[in-house]
Amino acid sequence: MKYDFETTHKRFHTGAFKWEQMTRAGVQDTEDIIPFSVADMEFVTPPEIVEALKRELDSSVMGYADTTPEYLDAVCSWMKTRRNWDARPEWILNTHGVVDAFFEAVRAFTREGDGIILMTPVYYPMYTAVTSTGRILLDNPLINTGTCYEIDFDDLERKASDPRAKMLILCSPHNPVGRVWTRDELTRVGNICMKHNVLVVSDEIHFDLIMPGHVHTVYASICEEFAQNCLVLTAPSKTFNIAGLQTSNVFIPNPELRSQYLTALKLRNPQPKCNILGYRACEAAYRFCGEWLDECLSVIDGNRRVITDFMSREFPQVKVYDLEGTYLLWLDMNGLGIGYKELERVNREEARLFFDEGYVFGSQGEGFERWNIACPARYIHGALGRMKEAYTKYIR
Ligand SMILES: Cc1ncc(COP(=O)(O)O)c(C=O)c1O
Repeated sequence: MKYDFETTHKRFHTGAFKWEQMTRAGVQDTEDIIPFSVADMEFVTPPEIVEALKRELDSSVMGYADTTPEYLDAVCSWMKTRRNWDARPEWILNTHGVVDAFFEAVRAFTREGDGIILMTPVYYPMYTAVTSTGRILLDNPLINTGTCYEIDFDDLERKASDPRAKMLILCSPHNPVGRVWTRDELTRVGNICMKHNVLVVSDEIHFDLIMPGHVHTVYASICEEFAQNCLVLTAPSKTFNIAGLQTSNVFIPNPELRSQYLTALKLRNPQPKCNILGYRACEAAYRFCGEWLDECLSVIDGNRRVITDFMSREFPQVKVYDLEGTYLLWLDMNGLGIGYKELERVNREEARLFFDEGYVFGSQGEGFERWNIACPARYIHGALGRMKEAYTKYIR
């Protein structure tokens, strides 16, 4: 390996959200606990990004920033080389994050009382984007086959034909179930949405985090008709561990939708802009960090394999769902028979492990854990040892 995926920095008491969250959750003596929760990586930032930021700090004034033609070219070239998508620079608007971007889409394109479809269980802020803005949740539960999750197309058709339905927020790849939707699946989704005039907001923040053997299709790349009826939300943040720089790229190929979205953005902030370091980091990532990413994906895939093998050997009652994309492994722990609240306690207090509890993604997630495996392999080995010791006491 050319890059270092073993070195870690102390993040506790440094304002790192993932680590501070444990204290806020009431976990005592957090020094020895390992968090596998919030979706950022424990790996150090790629050196090419660090160098680009140092150059910026050495040479520039930290004034207001805007995108440059070079920045936009780096973003579009990345889309072309990694996802074979011919995106155009003028389609791109920037937001401070993808969560901001889908909240803004809800405000821009729907009104109170309108229905928004979510495929659940799903990334929890999507629920908030619907319910906190007075929109109606049209729940389209995924089908759990026991080994993977599938879209319930009949139910989607029913929900999309509800006269209130105005928008689908698609999570692609899907957090937390780890699916990379195939081109066929996305085409079926798109056809239903076109038929019922439902706008697609495709959150593709995990589009770079695709495991071997799977292919991510950008929703807007499927056909012109879909491109004209969607927003594609992306960011380099998950991929290169730069979420703290809060720079996202929102692609809106349809000029009318783009203008409507920009008007909505400007209502809250008359001059929407991101910060200069975020732009520089994104440009450096997309120009120079392809090799880093390929190595990173192989480390994540190795971690996945270690956990899967361990569970089938030691705790075959635990179902580990296939990780097609993201670095968030989805495990059904119900077979342990511990009870989901008790399992949360056992993990935190006895095993000293902190996961994102499955129930925060919806009631279908009760008894599941979402395990962020973007960390050095030694964290994974350490966690498995602790699990074995802690769980064995509770299993008859
Ligand atoms: C599907 C999805 N969207 C958005 C985000 C967060 O986006 P941001 O930090 O850019 O607001 C996450 C983080 O885990 C996510 O999984």
